[in-house]
Amino acid sequence: MYAKITGTGSYLPNHRMDNFELSKLVDTSDEWIQSRTGIKARHIAEHDTVVSLSVRAAKEAICDAEIDPEEIDLIIVSSVSAEQVLPCTACEVQAAIGAVNAASFDLNAACTGFITAYQVAVAQMKAGLIQTALVIGAECLSNLIDWTDRGTCILFGDGAGATVITCENSDIEVPFVLHSDGTKRHVLSCSSGFGAGKSPYGESVFMDGREIYKFAVKKVPELIYEILERHGRSADEIDLFLLHQANKRIISSIAKHLHQDLSKFPMNLQENGNISSASIPVLLDDLNKQGKLKPGMKLIVAGFGAGLTWGGMYLEW
Ligand code: COA
Repeated sequence: MYAKITGTGSYLPNHRMDNFELSKLVDTSDEWIQSRTGIKARHIAEHDTVVSLSVRAAKEAICDAEIDPEEIDLIIVSSVSAEQVLPCTACEVQAAIGAVNAASFDLNAACTGFITAYQVAVAQMKAGLIQTALVIGAECLSNLIDWTDRGTCILFGDGAGATVITCENSDIEVPFVLHSDGTKRHVLSCSSGFGAGKSPYGESVFMDGREIYKFAVKKVPELIYEILERHGRSADEIDLFLLHQANKRIISSIAKHLHQDLSKFPMNLQENGNISSASIPVLLDDLNKQGKLKPGMKLIVAGFGAGLTWGGMYLEW
């Protein structure tokens, strides 16, 4: 059994907030942000919600896959920033697109969320339970940000990406890897706001930027080597490495560790900032729309973030 991405879609809110606009809110500069992160702008939701972003991205992916919504067996939405607790975003999407035969649930593994959701969907395919899944990463991180904290508000953005995944008969084995380390839970944290007094965390995103940076540049290369080893491949055989879009310096350091040219690491963080679980499906959709994903291409997809969590997989397009 082999799962294939047969459709992609994405949606970013209309308001493009560049670094100059941000520098009117906090004491920062375009030069500082670009040199430390590579980010030039991010999209910020004014009227959109995690639900509305998800529905727009989902409709595009379904159209791209040329399927009927009734064919979808499972919808998983990965998000940390939904405006509502109940019902889950995936059920809202199900109703909006008319996926009457789908089971639906949400999942939170922070910036590793899309990877986790993808792996859960494919595990269901391997178990023979489902044929077609819709996996979405959607975030309105602007809901969680302290807009007076220049250490965090410069990094994040809003948006959604969606993929349709279809089960195909093949003997190709696809290596999946997921890890977590809850002892480092404090380095990137945020309370839900409900029963805030009972949570050890604040009501907006707290981040120890240096710790996260050190974690990412150490653990992601290790993760990629683990995936490659399990698949019996070398980094040189991989066409593209699609990494969580957190920071250009992190991605450059990972490319160096792997002795790979940076051109094999496509990025859209310049325009989107870090959109947590939406970053990888939005990148997939950008590349798909630009015709840069050719049949048979070998891809490594990897994410990392709060929890701490990190995970990845090998895919053939
Ligand atoms: N504009 C201008 N100056 C800023 C600033 C901003 N937006 N944010 C912080 N600074 C200042 C600090 O106050 C500090 O000043 P000081 O030396 O006078 O005290 C100085 O810049 C250095 O701060 P520091 O936090 O040490 O910067 P850094 O080099 O570690 O860069 C990050 C900060 C956030 C860019 C970097 O740590 C990073 O990218 N971390 C990973 C974050 C990430 O990807 N998180 C999500 C993972 S999913």
